[in-house]
Amino acid sequence: MQIKITVLPGDGIGPEVTHEAVNVLAAVAAKYNHELDLSTAPIGGAAIREFNNPLPDQTLESCLASSAVLLGAVGHPDFDNHPTHLRPEAGLLKIRNALGAYANLRPARLFAALAEASPLKPAVIANTDMLIVRELLGGLYFSKPRGVADGEPPAALNTMRYSVPEIERIARIAFELARGRRQKVTSVDKANVLEVSRLWRDTVINIAADYPDVTLEHQYVDSCAMAMVARPASFDVILTENMFGDILSDEAGAVVGSLGLLASASIGGRVGLYEPVHGSAPDIAGSGVANPLGAILSTAMMLRHSFNLDAEAASIERAVERTLADGCRTRDLAGSGEAFLTTVEMGKRVVDCLQ
Ligand code: NAD
Ligand code: IPM
Ligand code: MN
Repeated sequence: MQIKITVLPGDGIGPEVTHEAVNVLAAVAAKYNHELDLSTAPIGGAAIREFNNPLPDQTLESCLASSAVLLGAVGHPDFDNHPTHLRPEAGLLKIRNALGAYANLRPARLFAALAEASPLKPAVIANTDMLIVRELLGGLYFSKPRGVADGEPPAALNTMRYSVPEIERIARIAFELARGRRQKVTSVDKANVLEVSRLWRDTVINIAADYPDVTLEHQYVDSCAMAMVARPASFDVILTENMFGDILSDEAGAVVGSLGLLASASIGGRVGLYEPVHGSAPDIAGSGVANPLGAILSTAMMLRHSFNLDAEAASIERAVERTLADGCRTRDLAGSGEAFLTTVEMGKRVVDCLQ
């Protein structure tokens, strides 16, 4: 089959990790006789530098003409004082919105070989395998009113708004995915304080009636943040709004050993967007120590969700598992004083395992 994708490398370690992910994708395509048709386009700070626009029209056109998009990361301190619409992050939010990617799937599973890489005790993290289903196009990130308020003293505001259909569609995704897993959904909110969370909770309860085979529980977000480090293995699917999901997914990364491992799929529209959960990591950009596995595992999610290529996706996941079992570690996964591989070496080892 033809695998037509647009790659958006972005900023910082984005280009470093997408380079390895594309190599892995090319190896899978060759192994299974698929034709890989790749376009590359600028986004984020790289696009602001070139076009004064974090999501240039030609980048969006290329994405819309593809079956899927692979994104590295955006963001750079140079733009910290830019207005909202001229920040790298604006490009990411725009592409998610333009693709209708309302469902962000962020799995966090412990690889057996990495039990020592987690800051938590092995007995606490054993069997950890959760899937955060994060609403991606609503809440504080997109709702109006927002902005800087007039008058004195200086003030600014953002709004957390959700409509019932927005909650229903993301809840259905969570319940459907729970059916293929351990049949449990934990809906995370702040219903003790926020009206929007009470609507969220009521709506999720209504949708749950269509999924009697799935157990639903509710948890406040502060309590969930604590439980995620105290008993991470107790979670199956975590269903939550945009910002709570953003925060909890970085925490989940640390629980399983490194944020650099986490992959994600942003789906809901015709064209899926696949991106590691981590950012552009300006602190390590250019030094060859970034972990490419989150980006590599994002290509597996792409093959599964956008192309229905389950065997190909599983072959990438097995190759990553095998690479880790062989003792390969990037710096974020290595113990202190332990040897580690560069980004490129790690990518090559995964490709070797695939072949
Ligand atoms: P970050 O995720 O970039 O980095 C947090 C920490 O994790 C850093 O110490 C970094 O070195 C480390 N880290 C991240 N990815 C890693 C990897 N693959 N391998 C090894 N170590 C890794 O978060 P931040 O520092 O808060 O943000 C930096 C920039 O990235 C900001 O501009 C932010 O807006 C942006 N950001 C972008 C995305 C995205 O594009 N999806 C996601 C998060 C943050
Ligand atoms: C992520 C990032 C983004 C988000 C930022 C960079 C807009 O943190 O993908 O997790 O908050 O969604
Ligand atoms: Mn984030």
